Formats: sequence, C-alpha cells, structure tokens
Amino acid sequence: MHVLSPTFVSILLRVSLSLADTCADTSSLVPFLRAFSSSENDHFYTTNVSEMKNDALAGGVYVFEGESAFLWPTPEPGTVPIFRLYNQNSSDHFYTMSSDEVPEMMNAGWAYDTAPNHTAGYVYPYSICGAAPIYRLFDPTSVDHFYTMDIVESQNAVQAGYQDQGIAGFAILPSANGTVAQSSAIPYLLPSTITASPESQVSATTSSSCANIANAVPLLRAYSSGGTDHFYTTNSTEMSNSVAVNAYSFEGDATFLWPTQETSTVPLYRLWNLNSSDHFYTIDKNEVNQALAMGFTFDTEAQNVGYVYPYSICGASPIYRLFSSFGSDHFYTMTQAESMSAPGVTALVAFWIAS
Ligand SMILES: *[C@@H]1O[C@H](CO)[C@@H](O)[C@H](O)[C@H]1NC(C)=O
Ligand SMILES: *[C@@H]1O[C@H](CO)[C@@H](O)[C@H](O)[C@H]1NC(C)=O
Ligand SMILES: *[C@@H]1O[C@H](CO)[C@@H](O)[C@H](O)[C@H]1NC(C)=O
Ligand SMILES: *[C@@H]1O[C@H](CO)[C@@H](O)[C@H](O)[C@H]1NC(C)=O
Ligand SMILES: *[C@@H]1O[C@H](CO)[C@@H](O)[C@H](O)[C@H]1NC(C)=O
Ligand SMILES: *[C@@H]1O[C@H](CO)[C@@H](O)[C@H](O)[C@H]1NC(C)=O
Repeated sequence: MHVLSPTFVSILLRVSLSLADTCADTSSLVPFLRAFSSSENDHFYTTNVSEMKNDALAGGVYVFEGESAFLWPTPEPGTVPIFRLYNQNSSDHFYTMSSDEVPEMMNAGWAYDTAPNHTAGYVYPYSICGAAPIYRLFDPTSVDHFYTMDIVESQNAVQAGYQDQGIAGFAILPSANGTVAQSSAIPYLLPSTITASPESQVSATTSSSCANIANAVPLLRAYSSGGTDHFYTTNSTEMSNSVAVNAYSFEGDATFLWPTQETSTVPLYRLWNLNSSDHFYTIDKNEVNQALAMGFTFDTEAQNVGYVYPYSICGASPIYRLFSSFGSDHFYTMTQAESMSAPGVTALVAFWIAS
C-alpha cells in the first residue's frame, strides 16, 4: 500500500500570490457534503447534492454525515482546486490540492472519477480571509482518507488508528445549525517578499526555493504566570535574563526558524504590550499596525524574532496561535493537543514555520 509522508506539505499554488489579499465571495460558498460507508470503509465528499442523494445514498451503501466544510464549487480569487480521485480496488475517495500528489496516487491505484474538472471544489491554500484548516487523515489498514474541520474529531481518528496527514486546505467552518460561520482566524495579507515561484511550492524539502535547514535555530519558549505571558526568543542570553530577572519559567524549544532572512521566508514580527504584559508575534503587517495602535511596541531593534515560511512549503508544519483574554496572553505552539488544552482560548490561527 502506498503510504504518504505524515508531513504532508505538497502544495501547488495555482494563483498569483498577489491575489491572496483578495477574498473569495462568501455568498457563493456551498456545503462540502460528507457520507460514510462502513462496509466499504470510505469517506465520500461532494458539493453536488444530486450526486450525494442519487448516487451515494440511494443504494444504501453510504450514510449521510452532514456538512464537513463550506467551500467553492467553481474557481474564486485566492482559491486552488481540490482534486478528487477514487481507488476502485480499495473503495477510497482521495482529495488533494497538490497536483504532484495526483500522479503518485495514480501509480498506487487511484484514478480520476466523474468529478467535473477532476475537482471536488476550491479552497484557500493557506489561512486567509477567515478560513480554517481542513485536517486530512489516513487509515492504511482500511485504506480510508478522512477529512474534517473538527480538530477533536481529527484527534479521535488518530486515537482510532488514522495517520495525521496535515492540512488538506483552508475552508470556512460550518456552524452547528448549518449556517456558514467564519472562523476566528484573523485575516492576514500575504507578505510581498516571497521569492518562491508557484512551481516550486511542491513537496521537495530541499530545493532552490527552500531556506537552508542547517541555518535554522530554536525559538525558545518561556512563561510567566505572574504576568500571564508566553515569551519567545532565539536569543539565549535574553532568555536567561528573563528567567533570572523577570521570573519566567523556561519551557523548551517551541519550533525552529531562521535568525536571518532566507529564501521564501518572511519576518515574524515581535511586539510587546507593557500594560497587559503580553508578547505578540505575527507575520501580518496589518496586524502589526493594529497592535501598534492598541499600545503594543517593538521591544527589540530587529523588530522581529526571526524568519518563517508564510505557508506550507519545504516540509514546514503549522504553528498554532491562541489568545486568552484572561490575562491577555498570546500563545504559540506546534502541538495540536496543547493548542486544544490551553485554557481560555478564544482564537486559533494556523500559519507555517519550519520544524
Ligand atoms: C451532479 O451529479 C449528477 C449525478 O447525480 C450529475 O448528473 C451532474 O452532472 C452533476 N452536476 C455537476 C455540476 O457536476
Ligand atoms: C472547470 O474549469 C473551467 C475552466 O477553468 C472553469 O471555468 C469552470 O468553472 C470549472 N468548473 C468546475 C466545476 O471546476
Ligand atoms: C487491487 O488489489 C489487489 C489485491 O489486494 C492487488 O493485488 C492489486 O494490485 C490491486 N490493484 C490496483 C490497481 O491497485
Ligand atoms: C447559527 O449559529 C451561529 C453561531 O454558531 C449563530 O451566530 C447564528 O445566529 C445561528 N443562526 C440561527 C438561525 O440560529
Ligand atoms: C541578546 O540578548 C542580550 C540581552 O538582552 C543583548 O544584550 C544582545 O544584544 C542580544 N543579542 C542579539 C544578537 O540580539
Ligand atoms: C496603559 O494603561 C494606562 C492606565 O490604564 C493608560 O493610561 C495608558 O494609555 C496605557 N498605555 C498603553 C501604551 O496602552
């Protein structure tokens, strides 16, 4: 059986990066309908109501499981196609926005099926415009690809034996009552400093468009319970001082990033609010300006804590950002479980950083 790398990173950006600050029309969103067949061990997704009703459900093989996400049935600004393939042999529907994964899967027994343009729909390739991640999971035993925007459901699937295959794309969350709900993600503009060409966004972890992994350094993490503040720096002297003088507790390496700008990376800005004792990190210049207007300042000359990828390329994984209004604390972690268990969390933003 063909098994994919758990660090699923293969993304082909088919849109010009300059379009990324344009959001797709939310009035054209449609539900991505989900059904499951226990006899075939297959999750099936379509935006086509007739296909769901007359083909999947009519025979009694599939059971309807509701709306898994909201996405677009036709191309929209900033979106990329999700290709749909089917493996007849193992009854498995497979969805990917990576065009280089398509031939790999075809070699392993999957083929295009009846979906128009071989596409299941259109999603954002990274977190913009209020979009949230669609998690992708794979059970190699039953050969089932499973997609969900519900992080708890994705973790339960991992407990049940599914592999975590990362993020399949970014879409709009459905709400419990079936109305479209924007996620709490704060929209950000993609920085204009990306040098990678769309063709180079494919899976290679070492290509001329990737930063040199040998130059990556740990981003150190500490927490102050007195100030309710998570603090991150690559500077070990500064970290030592924070622990010795300001009563922060060292909590280890949060991630790896670059101390100077490398190919395809963008600055991760660092700001500080003395009043609320809160360190804030973002790649979004709009957010920087909003923070400055709210009383945050740059507290280092460099104004950034290092350089990261703005989306998943070159083997990079997401770092989750959370905000707790209790104690005004911005918290960053690459661990999904930790992001779930953090207290007082009111927001979650995914973006990309080297691991
Ligand atoms: C929807 O599915 C039906 C099959 O049930 C098919 O005849 C029709 O062409 C599909 N529509 C689109 C837009 O793909
Ligand atoms: C199929 O591709 C054409 C040309 O790019 C586009 O106009 C059309 O909207 C697409 N339809 C779907 C369902 O993807
Ligand atoms: C289908 O499954 C059989 C038995 O599991 C295997 O031998 C065969 O190679 C598979 N065919 C394809 C096209 O995957
Ligand atoms: C549906 O739920 C959303 C949030 O979950 C809420 O804002 C909205 O008012 C609800 N709509 C209806 C019709 O109940
Ligand atoms: C590291 O931190 C120390 C103490 O805050 C500071 O004096 C030094 O300039 C910093 N080094 C760099 C490279 O920023
Ligand atoms: C800090 O708080 C004080 C009093 O609450 C307020 O006057 C001041 O403007 C605040 N400063 C900033 C930078 O937010």
